[in-house]
Amino acid sequence: MTVPDRRATPALLQVDAILAHLAGRQALEEVCRFLRASFAHYPWVGVYRVEGDGLVLDAWDGAQATEHTRIPIARGICGQAVREERTVVVDDVRSDPNYLACFLETRAEIVVPIRHGGRVVGEVDIDGNAVRTFDASDRRFLEAVATKLGDAVVRSASEPKPSEAPS
Ligand code: SME
Repeated sequence: MTVPDRRATPALLQVDAILAHLAGRQALEEVCRFLRASFAHYPWVGVYRVEGDGLVLDAWDGAQATEHTRIPIARGICGQAVREERTVVVDDVRSDPNYLACFLETRAEIVVPIRHGGRVVGEVDIDGNAVRTFDASDRRFLEAVATKLGDAVVRSASEPKPSEAPS
């Protein structure tokens, strides 16, 4: 698909506005909601945080929850993006042996590292429902989004996990 500049620019300003009002996991959840609501080719949007030698799902928005709430860095497309410290685009998940399946509909995936102080602290993970969903414009746009999320990911690490939070 594409994220033309005329859509990317206001979307990045909206991400700034979210981050001006919310912090930590709440901000990440709102960014996931916003991205999914704004781009029809982003049906599942998540943010994973690096914790030790694994990834923890910190925030997400989509029709269904994933069973992969914790992923070892040694595994998956998600692990690969952290190990290689780069954006990974998979045009067809069925032909990538690293792929960890979440949803039957998923045919493509993009995973973009989130950095803080030069270190990869997390990643944005988007599943798409068509082969070759993600092109260079998605990569550019999501890399720009990811540069904004480092503080929120680091802060979320010191917040209680949703299951530990008082109700
Ligand atoms: N497909 C990912 C796992 C996470 S789900 O897409 C939400 C992977 O291969 O690492």
